[in-house]
Amino acid sequence: MALRLVATCALGLEDLLSEELSQLGMEGIEAQRGAVIFRGSWQACWKANWRLRTANRVLVELARFAAPDGDALARGAHQLITQKAHHGIDTGRLFHPSRTFSISATTSQSRITDLRWAALKLKDGIVDGQRERYRQRSSIDRHSPDLSLRLRVHRDEAIITLDTSGEPLDRRGYRVESSSAPVREQLAAACVLASGWDGQGPVVDPMCGSGTLLAEAAWYALGWAPGRLRQAWAFERLPSFDPDAFERLKRGLLPAPGPEVRLFGNDTSSAALRATRRNLAQANLSNRLELGKLDAYEYRPPKTPGLVLINPAYGERLDTTRDQWRRLGDLLKQQYGGWRAVVLAGDEGRGKHIGLKPRLRLPVMNGPLQARILVFDLY
Ligand SMILES: C[S@@+](CC[C@H](N)C(=O)[O-])C[C@H]1O[C@@H](n2cnc3c(N)ncnc32)[C@H](O)[C@@H]1O
Repeated sequence: MALRLVATCALGLEDLLSEELSQLGMEGIEAQRGAVIFRGSWQACWKANWRLRTANRVLVELARFAAPDGDALARGAHQLITQKAHHGIDTGRLFHPSRTFSISATTSQSRITDLRWAALKLKDGIVDGQRERYRQRSSIDRHSPDLSLRLRVHRDEAIITLDTSGEPLDRRGYRVESSSAPVREQLAAACVLASGWDGQGPVVDPMCGSGTLLAEAAWYALGWAPGRLRQAWAFERLPSFDPDAFERLKRGLLPAPGPEVRLFGNDTSSAALRATRRNLAQANLSNRLELGKLDAYEYRPPKTPGLVLINPAYGERLDTTRDQWRRLGDLLKQQYGGWRAVVLAGDEGRGKHIGLKPRLRLPVMNGPLQARILVFDLY
């Protein structure tokens, strides 16, 4: 039976993530708020971890049952150990006492509201079940557990999932240095995917900060999996893991729409340029990179059009930012005719002063902040 899998994401990225899953050939794709559900085998789970650019984590569902109160929660947890498999997972075997675990809990619209108490009830049910089945119980390890469990109680229903990623998927492994306000890797990848770029032509970021947008555009164009530099995954510690099958999966080729891609970064800050140089070296992109240290408004892109990505850091005062947006719009019109442009705009309303009509305006959360991905076809 297929596993029930959940890829989590920042709010606003659900459709892009669904599209990624569909391109990976996943089944039963269903977008929810901040997550996309899908079905598949363990191989599908490893593949999702290895290849998804816009997801935060991949979870696998272990159980789902009515939990109006703590006793029901403990009972449901107990059954995880003593009953048969759920959606293709033998949870009794998974919860062998030799494996440590941890629990994080959230609740919404439910009678159970106390998160610590809910996690405690779940733990009690699991260890009681283990004592009954194995005469031993697992240890709790909050820092590096074998099983990292998530309990979500929503409308009095408990959903227990297991994290298969470990470190969140934005930890690509190339960020060795940050500049001010770096964009997260999934959001940078979302900017590239949302643009519908075909991988052709140069990629320019005239305010490149630590270079995240350039790195994500290049890895996409080259068909490099976002997991390629990661050292560890939580799924490697599960009994279902098959290292040889995972190695084979990693050798599979991804579509590479821009094998010749060239990257052009620019920033006025020396610290930002140093960060870009170091991060892109770590990302194996140094030989494709040219850096400039000019005001973005003086910087001249290559003649051949391609993709321009901009994540400006404009201040909070509306009157000054309005002028800055207008200037940015003028810059795009004057210097980037024929290009596809993506602007990651910090806040609602600000981007509208740019004076260009976006083909796409996608509201997203950038950490705790509201943001917009604006896509312009300047041709
Ligand atoms: C929000 S940060 C970009 C972060 C970047 N996307 C990343 O992931 O690291 C904005 C960058 O724009 C640069 N910047 C601001 N105004 C600029 C200008 N007029 N010309 C060039 N760079 C500028 C800042 O130095 C800063 O590094």
